[in-house]
Amino acid sequence: MIVLKSPEELSRMRLACQAAAEVLAEVALMVVPGRKTMELDEAAAELMRKRGGKSAFLGYRGYKGQICVSVNEEVVHGLPGERRVQYGDIVSLDIGIVLDGFVGDNATTVAVGMIDWKVQRLLEVTEQSLAAGIAAARAGNRVGDISHAVQRMVEAAEFNVVREFVGHGVGRTLHEDPQVPNFGAPGKGPKLKPGMTLAIEPMTTLGGSAVELLRDGWTVVTQDRKPSAHFEHTVAITEGEPEILTCRKMTLSVPKASS
Ligand code: MF3
Ligand code: CO
Repeated sequence: MIVLKSPEELSRMRLACQAAAEVLAEVALMVVPGRKTMELDEAAAELMRKRGGKSAFLGYRGYKGQICVSVNEEVVHGLPGERRVQYGDIVSLDIGIVLDGFVGDNATTVAVGMIDWKVQRLLEVTEQSLAAGIAAARAGNRVGDISHAVQRMVEAAEFNVVREFVGHGVGRTLHEDPQVPNFGAPGKGPKLKPGMTLAIEPMTTLGGSAVELLRDGWTVVTQDRKPSAHFEHTVAITEGEPEILTCRKMTLSVPKASS
């Protein structure tokens, strides 16, 4: 069952999503060489708490992290731990917040210093494929139009989309109907209606699309151990243009200039 949100529910979604976007931006700034992934997790927890929210992931199916931190060959659901970020890594951060009863879910992949040009290209194309998916997220279109737009953009650049994990409806709970795959045929799947809120989240690979699960039971890695990228926004379907609820609109606080 797909839950449509009323204007009142949408304004609450907006606040949860803005908080998720702000925390993602702040934690992204902390991704520097030497940083333990566990430290990013702890910082995120504090930033969520300061905004009156909490992690939408902690405790979900027994998940033990506050956020997901996936490095290089890790695709998604990277469980924060003792691993230290290194120069030349790419780091995917996935942050979901519950605030006032609603969830905001978003992700980005950041480069740590200068990275291989092909990996840089993977990040750019993946973010562009998210933009293409969002552009297709219009009332009257179908979920397959989003899926197809993402897949087309990624494959045109000779990268691959992951098939085992998909985007999803989001609202009072983290995962609602419908599923939003990053592959599919245009004109197929549920029809998009104003009031739907979707987490669109391309997960892509530089090499083959096959993935496997690490023995921690959570961290998903590429089978060929080549790099993977992940970008995600929570988006509302409207009568007109899609609204990117997790688009960061607030500026980060700037330290006072000393005289
Ligand atoms: N954004 C991811 C998702 O929607 C994060 C889930 S992590 C989990 O599936 F730990 F909560 F599973
Ligand atoms: Co998600």
